[in-house]
Amino acid sequence: MGALIVFEGGDGCGKTTQVQLLAERLKKNHQILLMREPGGTDVSEAIREILLNPKLSVKPEAELLLFAASRAQLVRERIIPALKMGLFVICDRFVESTTVYQGIARHMGLQAVEAVNKIALGDLVPTVTFLLNVPCQTSRQRIFLRNGADFGLDRMEREDFSFDGSIQNGYLELAKQHPDRMVVVDGTPDPKVVSDTIWEHLKARGLV
Ligand SMILES: Nc1ncnc2c1ncn2[C@@H]1O[C@H](COP(=O)(O)OP(=O)(O)OP(=O)(O)O)[C@@H](O)[C@H]1O
Ligand SMILES: [Mg+2]
Repeated sequence: MGALIVFEGGDGCGKTTQVQLLAERLKKNHQILLMREPGGTDVSEAIREILLNPKLSVKPEAELLLFAASRAQLVRERIIPALKMGLFVICDRFVESTTVYQGIARHMGLQAVEAVNKIALGDLVPTVTFLLNVPCQTSRQRIFLRNGADFGLDRMEREDFSFDGSIQNGYLELAKQHPDRMVVVDGTPDPKVVSDTIWEHLKARGLV
Protein backbone atom coordinates (compact mmCIF):
# COMPACT_ATOMS: atom_id res chain seq x y z
CA MET A 1 0.00 0.00 0.00
CA GLY A 2 1.08 3.56 -0.69
CA ALA A 3 0.43 6.55 1.58
CA LEU A 4 -2.31 9.16 1.61
CA ILE A 5 -0.89 12.55 2.58
CA VAL A 6 -3.35 15.37 3.16
CA PHE A 7 -2.85 19.11 3.49
CA GLU A 8 -5.41 21.05 5.47
CA GLY A 9 -5.94 24.51 6.91
CA GLY A 10 -7.93 27.67 6.26
CA ASP A 11 -8.02 29.57 2.98
CA GLY A 12 -4.62 30.94 1.99
CA CYS A 13 -2.61 29.06 4.63
CA GLY A 14 -0.30 27.68 1.92
CA LYS A 15 -1.74 24.23 1.16
CA THR A 16 -1.32 24.32 -2.61
CA THR A 17 2.18 25.76 -2.28
CA GLN A 18 3.20 22.91 0.05
CA VAL A 19 1.49 20.24 -2.05
CA GLN A 20 3.55 21.38 -5.03
CA LEU A 21 6.82 21.51 -3.08
CA LEU A 22 6.25 18.03 -1.63
CA ALA A 23 5.26 16.65 -5.03
CA GLU A 24 8.52 17.97 -6.54
CA ARG A 25 10.53 16.21 -3.86
CA LEU A 26 8.62 12.94 -3.90
CA LYS A 27 8.64 12.71 -7.69
CA LYS A 28 12.39 12.15 -7.69
CA ASN A 29 12.01 8.68 -6.17
CA HIS A 30 8.33 7.84 -6.02
CA GLN A 31 5.20 7.68 -8.11
CA ILE A 32 2.65 10.23 -6.99
CA LEU A 33 -0.96 11.20 -7.58
CA LEU A 34 -1.96 14.80 -6.85
CA MET A 35 -5.55 15.57 -5.90
CA ARG A 36 -7.40 18.70 -4.94
CA GLU A 37 -10.68 18.71 -3.10
CA PRO A 38 -13.37 19.06 -4.23
CA GLY A 39 -12.42 17.58 -7.60
CA GLY A 40 -10.12 14.99 -9.14
CA THR A 41 -12.59 12.98 -11.23
CA ASP A 42 -15.01 14.14 -13.95
CA VAL A 43 -17.92 13.73 -11.55
CA SER A 44 -16.06 15.48 -8.71
CA GLU A 45 -14.94 18.39 -10.91
CA ALA A 46 -18.55 18.92 -12.03
CA ILE A 47 -19.59 19.04 -8.37
CA ARG A 48 -16.70 21.45 -7.64
CA GLU A 49 -18.16 23.95 -10.13
CA ILE A 50 -21.43 23.99 -8.22
CA LEU A 51 -19.74 24.27 -4.83
CA LEU A 52 -17.47 27.18 -5.72
CA ASN A 53 -19.87 29.15 -7.94
CA PRO A 54 -20.57 32.52 -6.22
CA LYS A 55 -23.85 32.85 -8.18
CA LEU A 56 -25.37 29.78 -6.50
CA SER A 57 -26.96 29.71 -3.08
CA VAL A 58 -26.29 26.17 -1.83
CA LYS A 59 -28.06 25.15 1.39
CA PRO A 60 -25.73 23.82 4.11
CA GLU A 61 -27.22 20.32 3.96
CA ALA A 62 -26.82 20.21 0.18
CA GLU A 63 -23.27 21.52 0.54
CA LEU A 64 -22.34 18.75 2.98
CA LEU A 65 -23.74 16.07 0.68
CA LEU A 66 -22.17 17.55 -2.45
CA PHE A 67 -18.72 17.56 -0.84
CA ALA A 68 -19.29 13.98 0.29
CA ALA A 69 -20.51 12.91 -3.15
CA SER A 70 -17.42 14.41 -4.76
CA ARG A 71 -15.18 12.61 -2.28
CA ALA A 72 -17.00 9.27 -2.51
CA GLN A 73 -16.31 9.24 -6.25
CA LEU A 74 -12.70 10.35 -5.85
CA VAL A 75 -11.93 7.72 -3.21
CA ARG A 76 -13.24 4.81 -5.26
CA GLU A 77 -12.23 5.96 -8.73
CA ARG A 78 -8.75 7.32 -8.03
CA ILE A 79 -7.41 7.17 -4.47
CA ILE A 80 -7.90 3.52 -3.51
CA PRO A 81 -6.62 2.19 -6.87
CA ALA A 82 -3.54 4.45 -6.60
CA LEU A 83 -2.82 3.36 -3.02
CA LYS A 84 -3.14 -0.28 -4.05
CA MET A 85 -0.51 0.39 -6.72
CA GLY A 86 1.81 1.77 -4.01
CA LEU A 87 1.58 5.44 -4.99
CA PHE A 88 1.89 8.48 -2.75
CA VAL A 89 -1.45 10.24 -3.00
CA ILE A 90 -1.34 13.90 -2.01
CA CYS A 91 -4.64 15.65 -1.34
CA ASP A 92 -5.10 19.41 -1.26
CA ARG A 93 -7.92 19.32 1.35
CA PHE A 94 -9.77 16.14 2.31
CA VAL A 95 -12.09 14.81 4.96
CA GLU A 96 -11.03 17.22 7.73
CA SER A 97 -12.19 20.16 5.59
CA THR A 98 -15.73 18.78 5.76
CA THR A 99 -15.54 18.21 9.49
CA VAL A 100 -14.40 21.78 10.10
CA TYR A 101 -16.27 23.76 7.41
CA GLN A 102 -19.58 21.91 7.48
CA GLY A 103 -19.50 20.49 11.00
CA ILE A 104 -18.24 23.53 12.87
CA ALA A 105 -18.49 26.66 10.70
CA ARG A 106 -21.86 25.69 9.16
CA HIS A 107 -23.12 24.22 12.46
CA MET A 108 -24.24 20.98 10.83
CA GLY A 109 -23.18 19.00 13.90
CA LEU A 110 -20.18 16.76 14.18
CA GLN A 111 -22.18 13.53 14.44
CA ALA A 112 -24.03 14.11 11.17
CA VAL A 113 -20.81 15.09 9.43
CA GLU A 114 -18.94 12.05 10.74
CA ALA A 115 -21.72 9.77 9.47
CA VAL A 116 -21.58 11.33 6.01
CA ASN A 117 -17.76 11.25 6.00
CA LYS A 118 -17.90 7.55 6.83
CA ILE A 119 -20.06 6.85 3.78
CA ALA A 120 -17.72 8.86 1.56
CA LEU A 121 -14.51 7.25 2.84
CA GLY A 122 -15.52 3.69 3.72
CA ASP A 123 -12.53 2.28 5.58
CA LEU A 124 -10.02 4.72 4.15
CA VAL A 125 -8.08 6.87 6.67
CA PRO A 126 -5.40 9.41 5.67
CA THR A 127 -1.90 8.20 6.54
CA VAL A 128 -0.91 11.69 7.71
CA THR A 129 -2.66 15.06 7.59
CA PHE A 130 -0.54 18.20 7.77
CA LEU A 131 -2.41 21.13 9.27
CA LEU A 132 -0.75 24.37 8.17
CA ASN A 133 -1.20 26.72 11.08
CA VAL A 134 -1.20 30.39 10.06
CA PRO A 135 -2.85 33.37 11.82
CA CYS A 136 -6.05 34.45 10.04
CA GLN A 137 -4.64 37.91 9.42
CA THR A 138 -1.69 36.41 7.53
CA SER A 139 -3.93 34.11 5.45
CA ARG A 140 -6.15 36.99 4.53
CA GLN A 141 -3.17 39.10 3.45
CA ARG A 142 -1.81 36.22 1.38
CA ILE A 143 -5.13 35.75 -0.40
CA PHE A 144 -5.47 39.45 -1.13
CA LEU A 145 -1.91 39.51 -2.47
CA ARG A 146 -2.63 36.45 -4.59
CA ASN A 147 -6.08 37.50 -5.87
CA GLY A 148 -5.84 41.30 -5.81
CA ALA A 149 -8.16 43.25 -3.42
CA ASP A 150 -11.26 41.11 -2.81
CA PHE A 151 -11.57 40.36 -6.49
CA GLY A 152 -11.80 36.72 -7.43
CA LEU A 153 -12.75 35.24 -4.07
CA ASP A 154 -14.71 32.01 -4.54
CA ARG A 155 -18.03 31.24 -2.84
CA MET A 156 -16.40 29.73 0.26
CA GLU A 157 -13.77 32.48 0.60
CA ARG A 158 -16.54 35.11 0.67
CA GLU A 159 -18.07 33.63 3.83
CA ASP A 160 -17.86 35.64 7.06
CA PHE A 161 -16.38 32.64 8.87
CA SER A 162 -13.49 32.31 6.43
CA PHE A 163 -11.13 34.51 8.38
CA ASP A 164 -12.73 34.91 11.84
CA GLY A 165 -10.67 32.21 13.57
CA SER A 166 -13.43 29.58 13.80
CA ILE A 167 -11.94 27.51 10.98
CA GLN A 168 -8.44 27.64 12.39
CA ASN A 169 -9.63 26.81 15.92
CA GLY A 170 -11.77 23.97 14.58
CA TYR A 171 -8.75 22.49 12.83
CA LEU A 172 -6.56 22.79 15.92
CA GLU A 173 -9.23 21.08 18.03
CA LEU A 174 -9.48 18.25 15.50
CA ALA A 175 -5.69 17.85 15.49
CA LYS A 176 -5.78 17.43 19.28
CA GLN A 177 -8.32 14.62 18.87
CA HIS A 178 -6.15 12.80 16.30
CA PRO A 179 -2.54 13.28 17.43
CA ASP A 180 -1.59 9.97 15.79
CA ARG A 181 -2.26 11.12 12.25
CA MET A 182 -2.66 14.91 12.31
CA VAL A 183 0.50 17.03 12.44
CA VAL A 184 0.29 20.76 13.13
CA VAL A 185 2.97 22.61 11.18
CA ASP A 186 3.81 26.30 11.59
CA GLY A 187 2.90 27.70 8.16
CA THR A 188 4.30 31.19 8.70
CA PRO A 189 7.98 30.76 7.71
CA ASP A 190 9.28 30.79 4.16
CA PRO A 191 7.62 28.05 2.03
CA LYS A 192 10.93 26.18 1.68
CA VAL A 193 11.34 26.06 5.48
CA VAL A 194 7.77 24.77 5.90
CA SER A 195 8.45 22.15 3.24
CA ASP A 196 11.62 20.99 5.04
CA THR A 197 9.66 20.56 8.29
CA ILE A 198 7.08 18.45 6.48
CA TRP A 199 9.79 16.34 4.85
CA GLU A 200 11.41 15.69 8.25
CA HIS A 201 8.05 14.49 9.62
CA LEU A 202 7.64 12.09 6.72
CA LYS A 203 11.17 10.83 7.28
CA ALA A 204 10.55 10.35 11.01
CA ARG A 205 7.49 8.24 10.15
CA GLY A 206 9.56 6.13 7.79
CA LEU A 207 7.45 7.13 4.81
CA VAL A 208 10.29 8.63 2.73
N1 LIG B 1 5.04 30.20 3.64
C1 LIG B 1 4.57 31.23 2.92
N2 LIG B 1 5.00 32.48 3.14
C2 LIG B 1 4.53 33.51 2.39
N3 LIG B 1 3.61 33.41 1.41
C3 LIG B 1 3.16 32.17 1.15
C4 LIG B 1 3.61 31.02 1.88
N4 LIG B 1 2.98 29.93 1.41
C5 LIG B 1 2.18 30.37 0.42
N5 LIG B 1 2.29 31.71 0.25
C6 LIG B 1 1.55 32.54 -0.72
O1 LIG B 1 0.27 32.77 -0.16
C7 LIG B 1 -0.74 32.64 -1.15
C8 LIG B 1 -1.68 31.51 -0.72
O2 LIG B 1 -0.97 30.28 -0.79
P1 LIG B 1 -1.67 28.98 -1.37
O3 LIG B 1 -2.41 29.31 -2.61
O4 LIG B 1 -0.63 27.92 -1.41
O5 LIG B 1 -2.69 28.71 -0.17
P2 LIG B 1 -3.91 27.72 -0.12
O6 LIG B 1 -3.98 27.25 1.29
O7 LIG B 1 -3.77 26.70 -1.18
O8 LIG B 1 -5.12 28.69 -0.45
P3 LIG B 1 -6.63 28.28 -0.86
O9 LIG B 1 -7.27 27.80 0.39
O10 LIG B 1 -7.22 29.56 -1.34
O11 LIG B 1 -6.52 27.23 -1.92
C9 LIG B 1 -0.03 32.36 -2.46
O12 LIG B 1 0.11 33.58 -3.17
C10 LIG B 1 1.32 31.82 -2.03
O13 LIG B 1 2.34 32.12 -2.97
MG1 LIG C 1 -5.08 26.14 -2.72
